[in-house]
Parts: sequence; structure tokens; C-alpha cells
Amino acid sequence: MRIDILCLFPEMFVSPFAHSIVRRAEERGLVEVISHNIRDFAHDRHATVDDYPYGGGAGMVLKPEPVFEAAEYVRHSTRSSDSPVVLLTPGGRLFSQGIAAELSAHSHLTLICGHYEGVDERVAEHLATDELSIGDYVLTGGELAAMVVVDAVVRLLPGVLGCHESAADDSHADGLLEYPQYTRPEEFRGWRVPPVLLSGNHAEIAAWRRRQSVLKTAARRPDLLNNVTLSDKERAWILESL
Ligand code: ADE
Repeated sequence: MRIDILCLFPEMFVSPFAHSIVRRAEERGLVEVISHNIRDFAHDRHATVDDYPYGGGAGMVLKPEPVFEAAEYVRHSTRSSDSPVVLLTPGGRLFSQGIAAELSAHSHLTLICGHYEGVDERVAEHLATDELSIGDYVLTGGELAAMVVVDAVVRLLPGVLGCHESAADDSHADGLLEYPQYTRPEEFRGWRVPPVLLSGNHAEIAAWRRRQSVLKTAARRPDLLNNVTLSDKERAWILESL
């Protein structure tokens, strides 16, 4: 997969992608992440990328011309005409594990990082194929949001995670939060690991984990249960826990 990021601060991506799983994926040739400075596509002497908002109001707006030209440069150099072009903006639809999985199925992805008070609406209307927000809060720019999206997408690419770090049990992978995990020591400062996990009984362990996932999701994120099919027994666990 190739991911092109159009932004005003490409240096921000150097350190986060120089470590950990994204770096390993790049080294193995499973992904190539390239960040471009939108300013390089401005035409005037001052490399202007922002301007005052029509109609007045506070702040500046990212101009459409350099953003379109940067995206067109990427489209020509990758010869990809129908890959997703995602604008990161607090007004986008909420990013989720499901969207990460959808995006990871493409061989090419372009991410556009907004800045200032906003991005000229013609970018959203005529260039982006999707607008994503990583949460209901406002960041100073789309770069951090793009990092979040890249990280969540790259770890789902086939071969990126080893089988011992499979994504299948992740929180959100099946619509539920993940069950609690423990490692050695068996007792730490008087707090013991739940005995069932030491029992060696795989069926009982799986049942305990499922119950923990269901109860944790019901307690912390009941909204997620609307999109999950639970058995009558599982629904009874929730009722008992209330
Ligand atoms: N840019 C600023 N805030 C953002 C957010 N919450 N999600 C995506 N892009 C953003």
C-alpha cells in the first residue's frame, strides 16, 4: 500500500513513523508513506497557502489551488485515479475500526491535512472522496489525525502484525471492547491474576473473556452494543450486572 499525505508540516511525520510497527512495515516493503508539503505547490513568491475568509470572520482559510495541485501531482505520479482521498477535519464522519479496515483494502490512499480556521470547501466538494474526524475535539491541524489514521490502517495490512500480535482480538475488532489482559507475575502487590486464566481450560478461558468483553462494553460503551449481536445468555449477564 502507498499512502501520500498532503500537509503543511511534513517534518511532523518523521519521528512517529520512524519507530515501531509502521517502520517495520515500511522496511518489509508492505507500505510506503510519503508526506508532501502543500506549500511546495504554491505559485507566488511567498508560497502563500492561506487567505482571508470570504464573508469575514476570524482566522485564515487554506486556499484550494495548492491543495488541488498537490493531489493532482500525487495522482499523476501514482497513476491512481480511483483511490480514496481523505480530508482530515473535525467536521468529518467519525473514524472507526470499520473505516480503518475499509481503507486498508486499497492499494493507495491520499490524506489531506486541514489547517487554520478551515479548508476552502471546494476541496471537500470536488477533491476529497471522504472527510474523517478522529474525535469530537479540535486539533491545531490534521497532521496528528493523519498519523492516527495511518497507524490504524497500516497495522491491518496483511503481514504487518505477527500472528502473536493478531488484530483479531483487538478492542473494536468484533464491535466489543477487549477483555482484560494479564501477564506474569501471578501475584503483584497482593493482586492476583483471575484463576481461570491459569486453569489451562481453553473453553473456560474463552467464555470468561467473552463475558468480560460484553460486561466491559455494557458498562463503558453501551452505544457499541447497538451494532453487536448478543445471545440471550449474554444479554442476561448484562441485566445481572446492572
Ligand atoms: N483537524 C482538527 N481537528 C481534527 C479532528 N478532530 N479530526 C480530524 N482532523 C482534525
